[in-house]
Amino acid sequence: MKVDVLLGLQWGDEGKGKVVDVLTPNYAVVTRFQGGPNAGHTLEFEGQKYVLRSVPSGIFQGGKTNIIGNGVVLDPALFRQEVEALEASDHDLQSRLQISRKAHLILPTHRLLDAAYESAKGKAKIGTTGKGIGPTYTDKISRNGLRVGDLEHDFENKYKAAIERHKEILSHYNFEYDLEPIEKEWMAGIEKLRKFKFIDSEHVINRKLAEGCNILAEGAQGTMLDIDFGSYPFVTSSNTICAGACTGLGVAPHRIGDVFGIFKAYCTRVGSGPFPTELNDATGEELRRLGHEFGAVTGRPRRCGWIDLVALKYAVMINGVSKLIMMKSDVLDQFETIKACVAYKVNGVETEDFPFDINEGVEPVYVELDGWKTDMTRMKSENEFPEEYNAYISFIEDYLKVPIAIVSVGPDREQTIMRGVE
Ligand code: GDP
Ligand code: IMO
Ligand code: MG
Repeated sequence: MKVDVLLGLQWGDEGKGKVVDVLTPNYAVVTRFQGGPNAGHTLEFEGQKYVLRSVPSGIFQGGKTNIIGNGVVLDPALFRQEVEALEASDHDLQSRLQISRKAHLILPTHRLLDAAYESAKGKAKIGTTGKGIGPTYTDKISRNGLRVGDLEHDFENKYKAAIERHKEILSHYNFEYDLEPIEKEWMAGIEKLRKFKFIDSEHVINRKLAEGCNILAEGAQGTMLDIDFGSYPFVTSSNTICAGACTGLGVAPHRIGDVFGIFKAYCTRVGSGPFPTELNDATGEELRRLGHEFGAVTGRPRRCGWIDLVALKYAVMINGVSKLIMMKSDVLDQFETIKACVAYKVNGVETEDFPFDINEGVEPVYVELDGWKTDMTRMKSENEFPEEYNAYISFIEDYLKVPIAIVSVGPDREQTIMRGVE
């Protein structure tokens, strides 16, 4: 059997959590493979709204195993908050959630280092989520990290040594901090974490596949935030792309089945960094207002702009996307016309190839399409779609050469339409 991967094709917040929840009934296991609590995945059903950070979005559809994979970085303090909030709304996770021993721990000092590095960068700051993601992955790669499995062997000493090392680094920065309260919270998180089942997830996942189970791998962030292929250095610190599912779970490439590439019918970004189709005008404001474009974790206003097909085509290529999922098209319901970026002008030369650097001198080339001027939020089937909406879908499919299998017309689980594509 296969691991299907669902991942963001833009700068994150495409609506991954919503669609993972919708697709979960087709799978035995749902698993996160990279990132950490920098993610904020929103789900809405039965009048309730949930925001998940480290917990996979498959936990609401009963009877499924959910796994936090080895490629994830986990903050026990935030994990505890997340789990307790879910428990308060009657969602018990202990029987449904398992955690890889190889997942790395975000230490309290990783969060401090994230803040210290950002403030030292001044104007050039990345605009991180402040969750310690970069420093934790840095320690992983430089072979200094602590893993969930370390909680089972001589943890105190390993923890103390890591904290001392971090304090030494922090002493070189002009950065004041009070470690005690965050450390206390972190230790309480460790106690909570210890109640969960720690597993050798690569064995569990491959055994499940051998037993005939299908698995859904839930991406976090988006392709344009990938450490290798995103808009470096304004990226996150993990491989958000499909290949990240292989390293972040321990599955071989031939085990990957469908790759669901998810995108908004327009485009957003939080934090600093280039964004060729950004609209710093009334239309951008309108997209933010209609799309409620404020960060699920940080509450920061998201920057908004038109859909960027050049970047999307690149993301489709890097990930080997087999099916597209278009989100939030309802946000465009009342627009007279909608623009789509079909090429970049780089130093006066037009190209459809995503360039090495989009930081400077990239000018989007647009085509204008007719808006559908129809309330899409109550639609149940593609038979009801207005002509202009179908034309928008066809235009994107023609450009990207991949079918749009699912469209989402509102935040609720029910506002999801499956299209008849193979
Ligand atoms: P994720 O990080 O990719 O899971 O996405 P986020 O949860 O950060 O952001 C997506 C936001 O859009 C959430 O507030 C969702 O509730 C909302 N959303 C998802 N799909 C739709 C849709 O089709 N229409 C509208 N209007 N909102 C949506
Ligand atoms: P989901 O999974 C949107 C952005 C941050 C910043 C950059 C680096 O909800 O789509 P980090 O804290 O990872 O070091 O920040 O990446 N970023 C996200 N933007 N959605 C996310 O996750 C993000 N996770 C990180 O804003 O620009
Ligand atoms: Mg999000």
